[in-house]
Amino acid sequence: MTDRRETVLILDFGSQYTQLIVRRCREEGVFSRIEPYDFPLEDIRRLKPVGIILSGGPNSVYDEGAPQLNPNLMDIGIPLLGICYGMQLMVIERGGRVDAGRVREYGRTDIKLLNRSKLLSGLEGELSVWMSHGDHITRLPDGFIQTSGSSSGIISSIEHPQGGFYGVQFHPEVSHTPSGDRIIRNFLYDICGAAGGWDMRSFALQAVEEARDRIGDGRAICALSGGVDSSVAATLVQRAIGDRLRCVFVDSGLMRKNEAEEIEKVFRPGLGGSLVTVDAGEEFLADLAGIADPEEKRRRIGNRFIDVFQREAERFGEAKFLVQGTLYPDVIESAGSSGPAAVIKTHHNVGGLPERLDVELIEPLRYLFKDEVRQVGRELGLPESVLMRHPFPGPGLAVRILGEVDADSVAILQEADAIFIAELRESGWYDRVSQALAVLLPVRTVGVMGDGRTYERIVALRSVDTRDFMTADFSPLPHDLLALVASRIANEVPGINRVVYDVTSKPPATVEWE
Ligand code: XMP
Repeated sequence: MTDRRETVLILDFGSQYTQLIVRRCREEGVFSRIEPYDFPLEDIRRLKPVGIILSGGPNSVYDEGAPQLNPNLMDIGIPLLGICYGMQLMVIERGGRVDAGRVREYGRTDIKLLNRSKLLSGLEGELSVWMSHGDHITRLPDGFIQTSGSSSGIISSIEHPQGGFYGVQFHPEVSHTPSGDRIIRNFLYDICGAAGGWDMRSFALQAVEEARDRIGDGRAICALSGGVDSSVAATLVQRAIGDRLRCVFVDSGLMRKNEAEEIEKVFRPGLGGSLVTVDAGEEFLADLAGIADPEEKRRRIGNRFIDVFQREAERFGEAKFLVQGTLYPDVIESAGSSGPAAVIKTHHNVGGLPERLDVELIEPLRYLFKDEVRQVGRELGLPESVLMRHPFPGPGLAVRILGEVDADSVAILQEADAIFIAELRESGWYDRVSQALAVLLPVRTVGVMGDGRTYERIVALRSVDTRDFMTADFSPLPHDLLALVASRIANEVPGINRVVYDVTSKPPATVEWE
């Protein structure tokens, strides 16, 4: 799918910064993608990258089982840039030496430029760079020259221009290396001869073309959730094939207040006849009746979703393709060399969909990060209210109504949640936090209202700040904002007489309460 795209290949040796390398190349206008360090040579030849970057890694090159360089990689005539561990592997491969250092360098370090360098061209004198290594080069292989050295006497960059080999001991991809973008640019343009010009507009145009080519005169279906990813993916494919795309919005009745109406309002103008909304609230509630176990709730919701979606797909007629808004972090994670991440919850609610429907997947966003997807959405004219919306779990409010779910609880939580979100928007906090939600607890506490004693349920508010949702902190919302939300919920939502704010981080808690 990307074969026609000018690409820089990043081979991942396990560095925590690998994704940053990808980001930096893309920011400089060249598409790049990550593959595991042992990505086969035939695949590299087929991909025809203009350059290859070897990432750093946590190992020492002599560790038993440490990831090794494919010995033929240095003979295929594609420029190579090795970063830290990646550079050390090239050095060893060509007969140089790397030793465990007496001197370890971590953090900000000064280096001095020594020789004329293609990689460091345009930079002069001393540079401040970010180091993170124990081992270092003690003997250069034939043909390599040292182009800079650190204040503690370490070889900090090398090159072999005839061979097309370049290496840095420091990390040009992190923001703590201020000249890092220049170094990456030198590699991409001066060394690899990239043409550049990759941006979200060109991506969107190309993605539309690709979807058109792939689907031909066939049909495709898409589960539109109203979240950023499925919205952008659906809109792209709709541009490509028009009404031969059917977007199904399954209203599970477990959505936020007025969600179905919002979907109509936002997407009908762009998607037109491609959009179908199905009101399946009663079916979902019937499945959930009497079920309190969180995993069982998720399982039933997932199954019901698939049934409803399949029914709609069959009504549409034969569709050979399923459009999904899979993003790059999911792709990298599921292909990861470090083994599958622990499955804490059955998050992939609709995992079985492609098999059940016997369809091929169209994933136009599979190489993009979230903020890039938002930019594509902007190019496509989607409103900020969709592009900047917080994530919402597939099982919806069912995992925020602790224990058994019924229509009354859903209605109560929808009201409370709507007040919380409205006040966050009103105060400008909505865009400053990563995800905010309300949870309905299955316990009652005593309160007082007017002259009477009340005995009602509790709503917990949760708001978190996070980069990747693997870890999160509670948001430091101002007390007066919390007080306003609490007072509105307790006064306006019948059935609630107490509101609490969750101040736990993840871990040990999770974002959702179930
Ligand atoms: P947790 O609760 O695991 O949530 O800290 C991390 C992120 O994942 C979302 N989430 C889900 N998304 N189906 C989904 O599609 C689920 O079952 C599910 N559970 C959690 C959660 O909203 C947060 O953004």
